[in-house]
Amino acid sequence: MFSALPTHPEDKILRIMGMYRSDPRPEKIDLGVGVYKNASGHTPVMRAIKAAEKKLWEIEDTKTYVGLVGAPDYNDAMIDLVLGDAVPRASVASAATPGGTGAVHQAFELVRMATPGATVWVSDPTWGNHVSILKHVGLATRAYRYFDAASGSLNFDGMLEDLASAAAGDVVLLHGCCHNPTGVNLTAEQWQAVVDLILARGLVPMVDIAYQGFGDGLDEDAAGVRLVARSCPELLIAASCSKNFGVYRERTGIIMAVAQDTAQVKNTQANLAHLNRQNFSFPPDHGARLVTMVLTDPDLRADWQAELEEVRSGMLDLRNMLAAELQRQTNSDRFAFIAEHRGMFSMMGISGAEVDALRDKHAVYAISDSRINIAGLNVTTVPVLAAAVADVIKGS
Ligand code: LMR
Repeated sequence: MFSALPTHPEDKILRIMGMYRSDPRPEKIDLGVGVYKNASGHTPVMRAIKAAEKKLWEIEDTKTYVGLVGAPDYNDAMIDLVLGDAVPRASVASAATPGGTGAVHQAFELVRMATPGATVWVSDPTWGNHVSILKHVGLATRAYRYFDAASGSLNFDGMLEDLASAAAGDVVLLHGCCHNPTGVNLTAEQWQAVVDLILARGLVPMVDIAYQGFGDGLDEDAAGVRLVARSCPELLIAASCSKNFGVYRERTGIIMAVAQDTAQVKNTQANLAHLNRQNFSFPPDHGARLVTMVLTDPDLRADWQAELEEVRSGMLDLRNMLAAELQRQTNSDRFAFIAEHRGMFSMMGISGAEVDALRDKHAVYAISDSRINIAGLNVTTVPVLAAAVADVIKGS
């Protein structure tokens, strides 16, 4: 039987992680996988999470199952964090999932159960695993234009033009903030225009929000998804706690399904529970418990928000530093867009061969599509990266 198994294309992010690990050069710089790192290159446990973990060890007296869709207080706290008061709580069905990826997977399965003929429209480019999971669950996919590599900015006309050919019932996947891989985001006016198009064409929006708090702030980063929730009859959300709570390996995420017609919520909720049961039964609880404790304890929450703000502003400083250094070392404004992008990532718009040269010649690891993880830099490595980029683009 095993000999009949297919082979799968290698995930480009995992590939770079592996190559980086086996590179013996001590000066190597990891700008690959989307994991936050502090100035010394470490991914720390956030202070509030550490404090919650200590408290949890003292008070937790059982490891029995929690609910099939997660602990209700986790779901409530996350709905509040993502949606604020955009919609009444009664409009939201939800289920805790193993990480944001688990939520994305459950969302696509829900789409397939309801509308197997729907096409899911994804930005070009998008997180590689979106496309891979869509293929895995067997949904049709089409790409809408999003990134203009020459200017490092949004191709908004292209986006609207492509989405205008989506059919009623098709799903439009949007990134809530901190677009992965490009770093290019929609303005408030552009969110509104996308919502208008979704309403006019009867499309179903889905928002993947994995970096809330890494862009412009916790509420600012959720403004787009909240607008969609307020405006559209239905909305799917996949949210992740991996990055903003730093609980990557705990696999902490949530799927939300928002319906303005609250009569739809009960059966949607039952479907989310069914999907959890079929795929993994009870979701993991440890990370979800820590997140709940942090969000519901005023002191822990204040400390978490303060640390998240330090992380956010640190990445912004690195962006500005890198844009300035690239300007100096390439003697051009070609990379000025890096200061405009938000979140962990920027797509530099250099060629695959130039990305290879960064790695082979300079031990700088970026994803093959030229995505870099800004949080993988520090004040010492910013000029090193800028010099390496200046070197590999020479003559291009
Ligand atoms: C990334 O894009 O690097 C992260 O979301 C990690 C992952 O699982 O790919």
